[in-house]
Amino acid sequence: MSEAFGFRLLARDGVARRGEVTMPRGTIRTPAFMPVGTAGTVKAMYLDQVRALGADVILGNTYHLMLRPGAERVARLGGLHTFAGWPHPILTDSGGFQVMSLAALRKLDETGVTFRSHVDGTPHVLTPERSIEIQGLLDSDIQMQLDECVRLPGERGDIERAMELSVRWAERCKHAFGDQPGKAMFAIVQGGDHADLRERSARALVDLDLKGYAVGGLAVGEPQAVMLDMLDATCAHLPADKPRYLMGVGTPEDILLSVGRGIDMFDCVMPTRAGRHGVAYTRRGRINLRNARHAEDTRPLDAESDCPAARDYSRAYLHHLVRSKEALGGMVLTWNNLAYYQNLMAGIRAAIEAGRYADHVEAVRAEWARGDL
Ligand code: GUN
Repeated sequence: MSEAFGFRLLARDGVARRGEVTMPRGTIRTPAFMPVGTAGTVKAMYLDQVRALGADVILGNTYHLMLRPGAERVARLGGLHTFAGWPHPILTDSGGFQVMSLAALRKLDETGVTFRSHVDGTPHVLTPERSIEIQGLLDSDIQMQLDECVRLPGERGDIERAMELSVRWAERCKHAFGDQPGKAMFAIVQGGDHADLRERSARALVDLDLKGYAVGGLAVGEPQAVMLDMLDATCAHLPADKPRYLMGVGTPEDILLSVGRGIDMFDCVMPTRAGRHGVAYTRRGRINLRNARHAEDTRPLDAESDCPAARDYSRAYLHHLVRSKEALGGMVLTWNNLAYYQNLMAGIRAAIEAGRYADHVEAVRAEWARGDL
């Protein structure tokens, strides 16, 4: 296994890319979906189950782990891989995005962001340097720069200021990260719904010559068509030989269309969160198991699936579990949903390799459009 972090393209079909991100802890087959493991756990799943479904990498969050159990404690316990029992690659988000959505009394300036913990009200500071230090203490393989994301719709002036601040923070993070051949730090393109700001952000970050580039500030309130336009405006200025990660996206359709715009990596709480809220993803679309129409339906979610979660539990039983708020309901539906997402990615990778990506997208969408089985 190669000791240096690297990326290679194996195939292209139009703008869609099939590749491999390699690092000492393993290889990520791209396009990849990274299950979200916010607090060192992919909620309601055993990590060996997550692995068995085909995940090559999981995500962790600086914000949650710095507050509880604390980055220094995780380091004393051998790092996040040992602590959680996941020896494969881990990508960590930098904290800024979560501070803005979860913490109280946030204050952001050139230095960084100060806030109070949503857990116990204690005060904390996150600077670009401290974010990278924490991600190092966690022993994260792919670390993200600290950035500022503006929700949409937003004022152009605010979006531009946040984008420029994020570029300056990328530089500070690059310096703090230094030279670590087996790991990577990715920069994050911002610029909201303005193509010219996206281009300026991408160009400035590409000048920093990092090992990978993320697209942030999307799926934050804008229509899907705007997100796709912003991907075109961004990816055109990113180097072909570096991985591209679209943060926090998305629905299965968002993923299919974004791969078609040149994205390699995704993460989203959707499959896990929806599972805990009684929603199943299937090849015929979403099914809300809370709905009374499932109360006496003895059929499984999808008898033809190779995932036991889809095949071996009746909709009536899942409806009962969800309505009774039983833990098993969230467990089975999360399992089903992550299996669906990983199968979606495997299908995407195979289609790009075979040079039939456009046909594949149409076939998957046609199946959704047929509606529930
Ligand atoms: N997760 C989803 N979007 C973003 C973003 O813009 N920045 C960061 N750091 N994380 C995200």
